[in-house]
Amino acid sequence: MRSNYCGELDESFEGKDVILCGWVHRRRDHGGVIFLDVRDREGITQVVYDPDTVESFAIAEGVRNEFVIQVKGRVRLRPDGTINPDMATGKIEVLGKELVVLNAAETPPIQLDEHGSVGEEIRLRYRYIDLRRPEMIERLRFRSKVTNTVRNFLDDHGFLDIETPLLTKATPEGARDYLVPSRTHPGSFFALPQSPQLFKQILMAAGMDRYYQIAKCFRDEDLRADRQPEFTQIDVETSFMDEEQIMAVMEAMIQHVFKTHLDVELGKFPVITHAEAIRHYGVDKPDLRIDMELVDIAELMQAVEFKVFSAPAKDPDSRVVALRVPGGGSLSRKLIDGYTDFVAIYGARGLAWIKVNDIDAGVEGLQSPIVKFMSADVISALMQKLNAESGDIIFFGADKAKVVNEAMGALRIKVAEDLGQVKPGWAPLWVIDFPMFERASDGSLTSLHHPFTAPACDAEALAKDSVNALSRAYDLVLNGTELGGGSIRINKSAMQQAVFRVLGIGPDEAQEKFGFLLGALSYGCPPHGGIAFGLDRLIMLMTGAASIREVIAFPKTQSAACPLTDAPSPVSNAQLRELNIRLREPPQQS
Ligand code: AMO
Ligand code: AMP
Repeated sequence: MRSNYCGELDESFEGKDVILCGWVHRRRDHGGVIFLDVRDREGITQVVYDPDTVESFAIAEGVRNEFVIQVKGRVRLRPDGTINPDMATGKIEVLGKELVVLNAAETPPIQLDEHGSVGEEIRLRYRYIDLRRPEMIERLRFRSKVTNTVRNFLDDHGFLDIETPLLTKATPEGARDYLVPSRTHPGSFFALPQSPQLFKQILMAAGMDRYYQIAKCFRDEDLRADRQPEFTQIDVETSFMDEEQIMAVMEAMIQHVFKTHLDVELGKFPVITHAEAIRHYGVDKPDLRIDMELVDIAELMQAVEFKVFSAPAKDPDSRVVALRVPGGGSLSRKLIDGYTDFVAIYGARGLAWIKVNDIDAGVEGLQSPIVKFMSADVISALMQKLNAESGDIIFFGADKAKVVNEAMGALRIKVAEDLGQVKPGWAPLWVIDFPMFERASDGSLTSLHHPFTAPACDAEALAKDSVNALSRAYDLVLNGTELGGGSIRINKSAMQQAVFRVLGIGPDEAQEKFGFLLGALSYGCPPHGGIAFGLDRLIMLMTGAASIREVIAFPKTQSAACPLTDAPSPVSNAQLRELNIRLREPPQQS
């Protein structure tokens, strides 16, 4: 139907006859001449109809935005003065000879260049129109190219692309499962996989040696800008490689993707331990584009009068930290109060601060609600420890370690963003030496990664001091986003059962839920490990998109629904009966 894409035409086509197919992007009537901007996936070309071509001129008069048309015409250079430097095809136009309307369109609910003014719900409901925007097409094209590069890289490194089931048994990754009722086994349910974790391990037991998959994962969890209920992983597993080797191959893959598609040399990724990350940045996914760090000052604060600081300074489960913000002395009282409200979200009961007006003037040069509680010696030692300078503001957090880490970690990022102190560019890093477990609110232990992660110690040490046991896990962090996570796995049944024991999963439950895995570990399972990257997050970061919804063709809303298809939706009683399901309460009418 067409000879060329609209976007590929340039001066080299001068005098050539072309056939274009696409959408009417814009129609302008210029006193007897009609201009149609015709758009397809590759770009926009201006087509001109003059009244000499009577029939097609009449059709051109009748077309409207988003009509689908076929244009036959000849490429010509635009007359001087009408060249459009903002348009890739701005030096040429097509003199239209024939025009066929392939399909009419009603007035679109979203104008392509006014998408910002409609809500996201509308954009998602009419996604077929929203996706026509060049920006959206570019993101999906970019995503397709990156996926292709990843596939080629893994293929070149001996990884086999193997599909794993979607109708399966629960694979715990810390979220709720999406369940699918079985018709043939009344009362039984499949779970959609939270990741292919168990199958990829079983593929290692089966001797596949190196596996990858661009895999759909399903997690029923609270959504944020970088989380979707259904998302895509670049999922990888290998046998007979230790963590350094796996990290090296994966680092090379990410470097290759950035070089190929952004022409960026990421360089060697720094490696820091989980404990260091928490100590310096308060979070396990630090944004290293920000220089500011949290500094422990408990030692200095043990003897001060100010109980808010001295009490946590003496408590081993608490932390007292300072965050020096260079140039932050200019922050207004109102902004500081705003930050106090901000840290309160994380449970902080206050946000003490010191403005350093003149570092050489001693206590006189400081402005703060708390200096009156401290001796001149303590203040001077504090200023020295923090390398404070005139013009700084120093914020303080004192509380249980978890509250301080979360509040001051988040404040570090917020202040840096507000003051323009996030450096441009890319800051990848590996975080290693994670704890095996974390304490849930009910006091029980849960896996920090997943229960199949190998501990760095033996089973005996694990049982003796589970809380302090470290794992052989590694996360890849990029600009403050967790891009990927993986680990060396447990490959022996006894160790797997030891970990289940710590998690409070008894032998019967272990057998019922993971008997198939324990079986696979019992019949010659090689040492193995792997990683999974969030593909959506990778593309979001690389394209600078504000959310992963912008790089997914058909994402779900914050409430995990699809406005386009209206999924999820009620089903008929007949369907429910067939599945042996009776609803406890009728769904609420909206
Ligand atoms: P993990 O749970 O850390 O590990 O997931 C790996 C990566 O997947 C991305 N990700 C998400 N992206 C979008 N929406 C979500 N809801 C979401 N959840 C996770 C993140 C994350 O780093 N089986 C293990 C991997 C392994 O051990 O090999 C796993 O799934 O970028
Ligand atoms: P107060 O004496 O309670 O008015 O507190 C004096 C200063 O300490 C105020 O700026 C409070 O915001 C701050 N503050 C109170 N509790 C904490 C805390 N847990 N961590 C850090 N600063 C705090």
